[in-house]
Amino acid sequence: MLLLLSWSCVLVLAPAVLGLAPVVSRGVRFFGSRRPVRVWNDESAPIWDGDPLTVVVWNMQFGAGIRQHFFYDGGLAVSTPKDEVLETTTAIGEALAGAEADIVLLQEVDRRSRRTAYVDEFERLSSILEGCGLSCRSSASYWRVPYVPHPKHDHLGRIGMHLATFSRFQIESATRWQLPLLRESRIRRLFNLRRAALDLELRRTPRVEKPLSIVNTHLSAFSRGDGTLERQVGAIREKILDPKGDAPWFLAGDFNCISPYEDPNNLGEEADLYPKDKTDVQPLYDRYNAAFSSPDVLLPTYKPFRAARPDRTIDHAFASSDVVYDNVTMLDTGGRFLSDHQPLRLALRFPGAVASP
Ligand SMILES: *[C@@H]1O[C@H](CO)[C@@H](O)[C@H](O)[C@H]1NC(C)=O
Repeated sequence: MLLLLSWSCVLVLAPAVLGLAPVVSRGVRFFGSRRPVRVWNDESAPIWDGDPLTVVVWNMQFGAGIRQHFFYDGGLAVSTPKDEVLETTTAIGEALAGAEADIVLLQEVDRRSRRTAYVDEFERLSSILEGCGLSCRSSASYWRVPYVPHPKHDHLGRIGMHLATFSRFQIESATRWQLPLLRESRIRRLFNLRRAALDLELRRTPRVEKPLSIVNTHLSAFSRGDGTLERQVGAIREKILDPKGDAPWFLAGDFNCISPYEDPNNLGEEADLYPKDKTDVQPLYDRYNAAFSSPDVLLPTYKPFRAARPDRTIDHAFASSDVVYDNVTMLDTGGRFLSDHQPLRLALRFPGAVASP
């Protein structure tokens, strides 16, 4: 999502901005590049013993539903009425509950944002998912601003948007990694998204030799070839994945990049959103074990506002070389589109997790 701040807004709101700045900049320093985040663990949940895992990955478009045409997609809508937020979030929770998942990776989970009627979607989803055994969880914000003076006609106001990971198995630890920011002025950075990755390590039984990491991320949208996506992908490789050495990992989320198998020229007027020569996610495809290992198994995940069905793949999944994908499908949402993204469901196996006797 693009956030364009108008300078007139900033000037009008200067006193408010100055008042907020210490809060925000304290956050900025505190984030650094990595910090531990809170884990809600259920001590009665099972401990991972190298079991196969079914993972669902979904950008839930902050529970706003697809009825309205939002300003960042060329429309006017900024906020969603409370009943619609509750209805959409509940429907998303129910679709997830029917997925028989062990792990759920969500992007764009609003927590008490003005645009979604101050509903804490993480809390709501937590209570639904607890009912089907996904009782361990963690969330990390990547847009948390007390007041966003944009767009002009209806300010976003308070924003809290998170990555959220739910697990059937106990969690050992969770880390929020700060990813490189868009190249823009300090003042815009105060109000804009701070893209991140939520890196969670599962607790493991003594039989499991190496820790398994599950990484959830959402990279910058509409950076239009300014190098931000390239730097974010580089940071994921160099700071997060490669230091894991030969321990297994799984990474998935919304990369806002099409797959190496798609041609942006086929996307009509949206062709300009993506680099022409090579997708920014190419280094991950080159280097790691991609769920979409060939054009034959590629699944379209993103449905633009005007399209009847998903027409491109901007959600991706990667794993270390020892992880096996048994089944990669779209999760059935009963024919309804509950977000501009469709959920991916991946069945993973870890043959090397437990040493053979
Ligand atoms: C893959 O998963 C889907 C459900 O998402 C199921 O219908 C299908 O039978 C599975 N395929 C295999 C080969 O297990």
